[in-house]
Amino acid sequence: MKLTASQLPRPNELALQHSQFLKQYIVEQIDSAGGAISFEKFMQLALYAPNLGYYSADLRKFGETGDFITAPELSPLFSQCLAHQCIQLFENADILEFGAGSGEMALDILNELQHLNKLPKHYYILEISETLKQRQQEKLQSFKEIVVWLEHLPEQFEGVILANEVLDAMPVRRFYIDEHKEIKEWVVIFKENKFEWILQPADEILKETVKNLNQNFPVNYSSEINLFLNPWIQSLGEMLKKGAILLIDYGFPRREYYHPQRDQGTLMCHYRHYAHGDPLLYVGLQDITAHVDFTAIAKAAQQAGLDLIGYTSQGDFLLQGGLLNLMTNFEELPMQERLKFAQQIKQLTLPHEMGELFKVIGLSKNLNIQLPAFRNDRSFIL
Ligand SMILES: C[S@@+](CC[C@H](N)C(=O)[O-])C[C@H]1O[C@@H](n2cnc3c(N)ncnc32)[C@H](O)[C@@H]1O
Repeated sequence: MKLTASQLPRPNELALQHSQFLKQYIVEQIDSAGGAISFEKFMQLALYAPNLGYYSADLRKFGETGDFITAPELSPLFSQCLAHQCIQLFENADILEFGAGSGEMALDILNELQHLNKLPKHYYILEISETLKQRQQEKLQSFKEIVVWLEHLPEQFEGVILANEVLDAMPVRRFYIDEHKEIKEWVVIFKENKFEWILQPADEILKETVKNLNQNFPVNYSSEINLFLNPWIQSLGEMLKKGAILLIDYGFPRREYYHPQRDQGTLMCHYRHYAHGDPLLYVGLQDITAHVDFTAIAKAAQQAGLDLIGYTSQGDFLLQGGLLNLMTNFEELPMQERLKFAQQIKQLTLPHEMGELFKVIGLSKNLNIQLPAFRNDRSFIL
């Protein structure tokens, strides 16, 4: 649901107090930066400032009592299907998951692999939020011999790398094409007790990267760009000696991402299951995301020496990847359970639910593989 700020539920006093502390912290950063910070810096602080940011603080985020539901939170079928992809990609592979959230995906993947008698030697997790790491450790107690939390990327890795809804949580810079087609940057200031946007000339890095997008932007056009993406993919390419990467997120190919009509960009905030477009509001209490430019991933992967296995929608990936085969005992389940699973499958796969907006891209290194889940590969549009 897309709403304006005034239509959102009001946070309770404790939450407002928390938000106030973070606000103060960000204001100090703005002051010491001379009065303005990039949106990238603002988003990084709002989500990850130590103990205060949305992902760093101990707030309920995932699931029905939180702010949003991700696919693994919605249904164990999503992770079970991913577990089958991991086996097909690389028999007995170690797994490395980025940004494991509540730990639900890791738990359901490991349960499925155990059920298939194919548990990996290690399931690594790289999580930047300390509080989420603690929650994951509690949730994954039963696999404590297998799960290892990493502080940074290992030098070398062989196996399967997974990231669900992690790239959309990376801070982005926000640019503007003015009436003379000059590239400017939206930055954040603090004025009259609230955060506000102002335009500044873009620095050379931002100008270059926006020009390199090769898009014919109309005038008065705002959008985002993730400058962390290239180095992140580059470091995966260097680390991965043999194996595959599956990245799942909402986003588009570049032409669609920077479509002339999408002139306000893709920033989206989630607060208690309301989606809206004002990231300067309720700082620390809401999730802030930007859609993913999948063309950027494909290009970065090529430069990083990774091969493209395929690219398709989440719905297609799951259905071709055997989602329905997981329901072999469907007829034996009580009616209530059957309805529940049918509903979950619809939400994961139908185009107007998560099926089409969410995409999956598969990359590999030293692995000559075709994954049936990418049978309807659409990478030609990237
Ligand atoms: C939207 S949540 C998704 C959680 C989980 N993957 C899921 O699907 O439910 C984003 C997660 O990514 C983590 N994160 C964000 N940037 C990261 C990075 N650069 N490296 C590792 N984790 C990151 C956040 O702390 C959080 O756990």
